[in-house]
Amino acid sequence: MADMLSLPAVLSARVEAAAGVDPELRPATRPQFGHFQTNVALRLAKSEGRPPREVAAALVERIDLADLCEPLEIAGPGFINLRIRADVLARVAGEVLDDPRAGINLSSHPRHVVVDYSAPNAAKQMHVGHLRSTIIGDCFTRVLRATGHTVIPQNHIGDWGRQFGMMVEQLLDEGADASTLDLPSAEALYQRANSHLKESAEFADRARDRVVALQAGDPETRRIWQQIIDISLNGFNATYQRMNVLLTDGDVAGESIYNDDLPVVAADLEQRGIAVVDDGALVVFVDGYPAPAMIRNSQGGYGYDCTDLAAIRHRVSDLGADRLIYVVGSPQQFHFDLVFAVARKAGYLPDGVSAEFVGFGQVLGADGKKFSTREGTAVTLNSLLDAAEAEAAPSIALAAIKYADLSSGLQKDYAFDVERMVATTGDTGPYLQYAHARVTQILRKAEAEGHGAGPISVLAEPEEQTLALLLSRFGEVVDAVADTLQPHRLCGYLYELAGALSVFYERCPVLKSEGDVRASRLGLCLATKRVIARGLDLLGIEAPERM
Ligand code: ARG
Repeated sequence: MADMLSLPAVLSARVEAAAGVDPELRPATRPQFGHFQTNVALRLAKSEGRPPREVAAALVERIDLADLCEPLEIAGPGFINLRIRADVLARVAGEVLDDPRAGINLSSHPRHVVVDYSAPNAAKQMHVGHLRSTIIGDCFTRVLRATGHTVIPQNHIGDWGRQFGMMVEQLLDEGADASTLDLPSAEALYQRANSHLKESAEFADRARDRVVALQAGDPETRRIWQQIIDISLNGFNATYQRMNVLLTDGDVAGESIYNDDLPVVAADLEQRGIAVVDDGALVVFVDGYPAPAMIRNSQGGYGYDCTDLAAIRHRVSDLGADRLIYVVGSPQQFHFDLVFAVARKAGYLPDGVSAEFVGFGQVLGADGKKFSTREGTAVTLNSLLDAAEAEAAPSIALAAIKYADLSSGLQKDYAFDVERMVATTGDTGPYLQYAHARVTQILRKAEAEGHGAGPISVLAEPEEQTLALLLSRFGEVVDAVADTLQPHRLCGYLYELAGALSVFYERCPVLKSEGDVRASRLGLCLATKRVIARGLDLLGIEAPERM
């Protein structure tokens, strides 16, 4: 099917050719109404002041769909019902079955996409916000790669700034060996350094000098800093492995790599008159924004805004990206809007390069309230994984978490309700895994009995037809996710597909049928299994053969 219009798109275009307006095809509400329905005749009748059924009859004469549909029917006040021919449905389902890509299209305009995601902060354990960024960004990477784009993940970890000066100084004070730490103990070190800083002005002075030494590249300071970063990366990698995400060390592009670019960006913006000095700070004012972007503060320090400008410049000019995607919590929307606006103004983001901020909502406790531990501290990502694994095997627990994260609109908050998430019934990840395991079991039995799957040739039953029609839509759903960055569309599709599969089993015996019918039904099973497995894979979820 690569690069072919999907069946609904073709039907819609043909009706539009006759009607002159978008028919707004809708799935039929009942099987006896066929597969799709349009009210276009009712709308035209209104504007033309003619009886709707008469308009419908005239349209039916003109719509050219004999190669794809049964004769069109007029229903009720003037609806036109479309029923796709069984042989056409068999053909499109057969195409999915025979296609190694299961109907996923390769984009006709492949792009170089940077996906900025995960981005935890060194010397701190990942928390629930990083959970969402990691799961969502990983899904985007998978979907964009599957549709033929080149994806460059960028893990913009927080590995630079004043806090590292104080941590290095604290380590030296304690005479501790940084290489013996792990991530939780690095976090404890950070807290000790922080209290020390508040108690002692003398320590605060030394910590400040240490930041200068770090920025200037003092070898001893850099060595200890690097140890802290390595410990942090070890901790992050253990979590990434546990989460089965694609991120590797090669994708780490932390804030520190822009250290040398910061003065360059500042000078560039200042020389071209884009940035101005205001109260000792170098800033960029953008129309429509209440506050300016801070390029360099009045103490000469560079911060988050400038680092992100340097990152954009690098991603566009050095990495060759023409689409930038940022998966970060919704509270940072303003920061990115402003940074994108400055980058446009400065030409770091030329026309033809898009920059998209994909914000996401909060993970709440099962009670729907702010999520925190009994001690009131932020919940770590590992403790969430532990909670889910207490209820189910690791691969199922992970499916539960990822699906819960991706299946409603990303901007929405959601409650981390482990029991609901791991259920094998309802709109959950484990339900889809179960559907996959069940269809696999049928295919395994058939194979043991010597029955082959396919070709898909006989689709007399409405349940078979519904399944075939859904299968043919997989490619367009994946396209939509690649475009709109809304994974819930794929989740909703897979949920519908799994539901159609179970209705199909109920009404259409597979192993107990015979001959071409059995081969055809097994073919439908195999195509459905592949689409579910491929779809789950795009969500970062494993499709078990047994459950
Ligand atoms: N480290 C930041 C945080 O934990 C997220 C960084 C997002 N990416 C970026 N390019 N600013 O909030």
